[in-house]
Amino acid sequence: MAYAAFRSIGAYTPSKILSNSELSQMVDTSDEWITKRTGIKERRIAADDEFTSDMGAKAAQKAIDRSGIDKSEIDMVVCATISPDYFCMPSTATIISTKLGLGNVTAFDISAACTGFVYVLSIAKAFIESGMKKNVLIIGAEKLSAITDYSDRGTCILFGDGAGAAIISATDNKEEAIIDVHTGADGQFADLLMTPNGGSGSMHDSLDQEAASCFMQMKGNETFKVAVKTLTKDVVDILNDNGIEASDIKHFVPHQANLRIIKAVGDALKLDDKQVVITVEKYGNTSGASIPMAINDIYENKTLKAGELMLLDAFGGGLTWGSALVPFSPLKK
Ligand code: UT7
Repeated sequence: MAYAAFRSIGAYTPSKILSNSELSQMVDTSDEWITKRTGIKERRIAADDEFTSDMGAKAAQKAIDRSGIDKSEIDMVVCATISPDYFCMPSTATIISTKLGLGNVTAFDISAACTGFVYVLSIAKAFIESGMKKNVLIIGAEKLSAITDYSDRGTCILFGDGAGAAIISATDNKEEAIIDVHTGADGQFADLLMTPNGGSGSMHDSLDQEAASCFMQMKGNETFKVAVKTLTKDVVDILNDNGIEASDIKHFVPHQANLRIIKAVGDALKLDDKQVVITVEKYGNTSGASIPMAINDIYENKTLKAGELMLLDAFGGGLTWGSALVPFSPLKK
C-alpha cells in the first residue's frame, strides 16, 4: 500500500501591509481593541492586479523547488479557496497549474473556508493511498480583501491575503507518512459565517448591486464560542484515535483566526507555549491559507525539522472543521 508523505512547504505574502492604525481611520476601532480582542497587529493586502492564483502559484513554486520532485511528476493540483479568481469557473487550481507550466494534471478547487487546507490534505492523502495519484500539489490561497466589507468593523479587522502550498507524495515508508486526517461539517450553523449574496441562492429576484456583492458576514461572538469548543474536540479526538499524547506534538499549527481562540485551545490541551505556532499577529486570518503560511513560517525560521510531528487544527465557515497528524518528511535533508 502507498502512504502519503508531507514533503515540502512554501508560502507567499503580498508586500502591502494594512496596520491596525490604518484600519482605525476607516472604521470605528482602535489598535488597542484589535490587539486585545484578536492579537492581530497587521495583515497583508494583495495588489489590485494580483489575484488568488498569482499568490497560489508563487507559494506553489516554492513548495515545488523545496520538494526534490520535478514539476513534471506532479499529477494533481487541489486549491482550497473561498476567494477564487473567478466565480464558478475556471477553477483557481487550473489557472495555477497553467501558470506553473504543469501540463496535463487533474486540477480542481474545494470550498471549506478556513478548514480548506485540512480538506485538501485529506484529498491528497486519499488519492495517493488509493494509488490514483503520486505527487499532489495542495494549495490554500486567499484574496480575502476582495470579499471583505471595509465598512464592517466586525470583519474587516480580521482578514488578510496570502497563500501557502505543500507537496504530498507517495511513499512506501509508513514512518514518514501522514498519520491521520479528520474532517467534518455541519450546515446547521451556516449562517454564522457566510457570503449571503452573489450565488444562485440570492440571485433569483434581482441582479442588483447588493446581490452581486460577495462580502463576508460573520456573527463573530457566536462563531468564537463554537470555534473554541470544536477546535478542542477536534484535537482531542484525533490524538485519542491514534494513541498520541499532546506532549508528543512538536508543532501545534492551528488555524489563525484569533489569538484568544488559539490560547484557549492550547490551554485546554495543556500545550506548552513553545509547541504552539502563532502568526496571527502579522497576517491576520487568511482562511484556507493560514495553516500552510504558518507551517512555512516555522520552516523558514528553521524551527521545523525533518521527522517532527505537526498537529493541524482548523475551523471555519460551513461550518467545517478538521485536524491532521502530519510528520514533516522532506526528501531533501
Ligand atoms: O476563521 C473562521 C472562524 N472565525 C472566527 O473564529 C472568528 C471568531 N470571532 C472573533 O474572533 C471575535 O468574536 C471578534 C474579534 C470578531 C469579536 O470579538 P468579541 O470579543 O467577540 O466582540 P463582540 O462581538 O462580543 O463585541 C464586543 C463589543 C461590542 O460593543 P458593545 O455592544 O459591547 O458596546 C462590539 O460592538 O465590541 C464592539 N466591537 C468593536 N469595537 C471596536 C466589535 N468589533 C469591534 C471593533 N472595534 N473592530
